Amino acid sequence: MSEKKSGGDFRYAVGESKVPWHAVGEYYNGCDAERMVKFLLPDTGNPDYAAALQGVSAALQKLASVSGRATKLTLGSKVAEAEERSKAYFGSKYACFVDNWTGGMEMAYKLSGLKAGDEVIMPAVTFIATMAYPLSIGAKIVFADIDPETINLDPADVARKITPKTKMIVPVHLGGCPVDMDPIMDLAEKHGLFVMEDAAHGMGGAYKGRKLGSIGHFGGFSLHEVKNINSLGEGGILLSSEDFAGPQLPGARFLGLDFTRRIKDWLYDISPLTDRFGNFQVAPNHSATEIQAIGLLTQMERLDQIIAIRRKAAEYMNAVLGEEDGILTEKPDTAETYGTHHLYLLRIDPKKIGGDIQLLAKKLAAKGLTNITHFGPMYRFKIMRDFGYDENALAAACPKTEEMFYHCYTHLPLYPLTQEQLEYQARAVVEAVREMKQGK
Ligand SMILES: Cc1ncc(COP(=O)(O)O)c(C=O)c1O
Repeated sequence: MSEKKSGGDFRYAVGESKVPWHAVGEYYNGCDAERMVKFLLPDTGNPDYAAALQGVSAALQKLASVSGRATKLTLGSKVAEAEERSKAYFGSKYACFVDNWTGGMEMAYKLSGLKAGDEVIMPAVTFIATMAYPLSIGAKIVFADIDPETINLDPADVARKITPKTKMIVPVHLGGCPVDMDPIMDLAEKHGLFVMEDAAHGMGGAYKGRKLGSIGHFGGFSLHEVKNINSLGEGGILLSSEDFAGPQLPGARFLGLDFTRRIKDWLYDISPLTDRFGNFQVAPNHSATEIQAIGLLTQMERLDQIIAIRRKAAEYMNAVLGEEDGILTEKPDTAETYGTHHLYLLRIDPKKIGGDIQLLAKKLAAKGLTNITHFGPMYRFKIMRDFGYDENALAAACPKTEEMFYHCYTHLPLYPLTQEQLEYQARAVVEAVREMKQGK
C-alpha cells in the first residue's frame, strides 16, 4: 500500500511498496472493539445494560466480518485533521497534536533555546508541569507574584523580576481566566524574550479578540481527562505562529525523524531541531495516537457549548455569592476577556468573615463539597529545596501568593454539576461563611 509522505511524521514511509506498511503490529478486531465500547460505556447496574450490550456485541461482530481494519494507529490522518481543525479554531499558523501538554511545553522550551543558567519567569501558582523541563535542564525558575483578583501572574512583578539572564516568560491562564497578555507581550518585545502561554486550562478562551494559546510565541493546551475537553485521557496541542518553529514541529514531536532527507540505504535521516538562537537541540518523542485525535475531534465540536454552560454556572455562583459580604466573586467575562471557566475561583476576605480559607475549606468539605486544593505556591515542593532553591526567600518575594493561598482562595468545580448540585454548592458556601461570621 503506498501513501504520499509529507513531513517527518511517518514511521514507515516506504514509498510505493505493495505491502501494508501502515502498522506492523497486531490489528484490532470486533472483540477488541467491544471491549472499548464497554470501557467508554460501562455497566452501572442498569438492568437493561446486558441486553443492550448483547445487541452491540452482535452488531460489532457482524461489522468486523465486513469491515476493514484500522491500520495507521499513530500520527496519521486523524492527527493531521486535529491539527488542521486547531489551526482554524485558534487562528494559529502552526499546530501540533502531542501525547500531553507537558511534552508540548518541552518542545516549545527546546525550540525557544532554553538552556542551563537561563531564567524563566512564571507564576508562583501553577502546576509542576509548567516548570518540569526548565528545572530538569538547570534553568532557573523565577516566580512572579500573583494578581490577587485572578491568581494569575502579575505583569508588574514580572517586570521587576526580569534580569539580563531572563529568556522566557510563561503566563498560565489559571482556571481558564485569561492573563493580561498585553503587558506581558510588551515586556517580551522590549527585552527580546519569548513568551509561552501555558493555556492548559484555557482552551477556547479569548483575550482581546485572540484565542488564548495563540498570543505568545508558543502556547498550548492540555487534553488530560480533568480538562474542559480531553482526548481520551491524555493529549496536548502546541501552537505557534513562528516560521522558524512551525515547520520543525513534526520533527520536534518525533525524535527528529526526517523523511524529506534520506541517507543512503536508509529510510530516513535524523535532523536536530534548530532553536531560535540557531543552536541544535535533540528532539524528544511526544507522538500522539489516532485514537487520541478522534477523541479530541469529537469533543472539540462541543467545546464552545461546554464553555457556555460553564460560564452560566460561574455567573450563577457569582450572583449567589455576591450577595454575601466577605465573599469575593470571580472576575466576570468582559467584552475583551472570555474565560473557559475550567474552575471556579472562590475568594474571601478573612477579616470580614472572621476566619481564613483553611477553616472555610474544612466546613465546605464537611458539607460534602469538592474543594480543589491543587494550585498552590510551587516553591513549597521538596524538589525545589533539593534543587537548591531557598523556599523562604521565594515566599518573601511572593507576598501576595502567600497571603492568598494560605488565607483567601480555593477552587471549586463547575461542571458537570447539575443545576441542583450547583445550587447546593453555592448555598453551602454562603452557609459556611455565615457560620464563620457567627464564630461557629
Ligand atoms: C497549569 C497546567 N500546566 C500544564 C499541565 C500539564 O498538562 P498535561 O497533563 O497534559 O501534561 C497541567 C495539567 O494539569 C496544568 O494544570
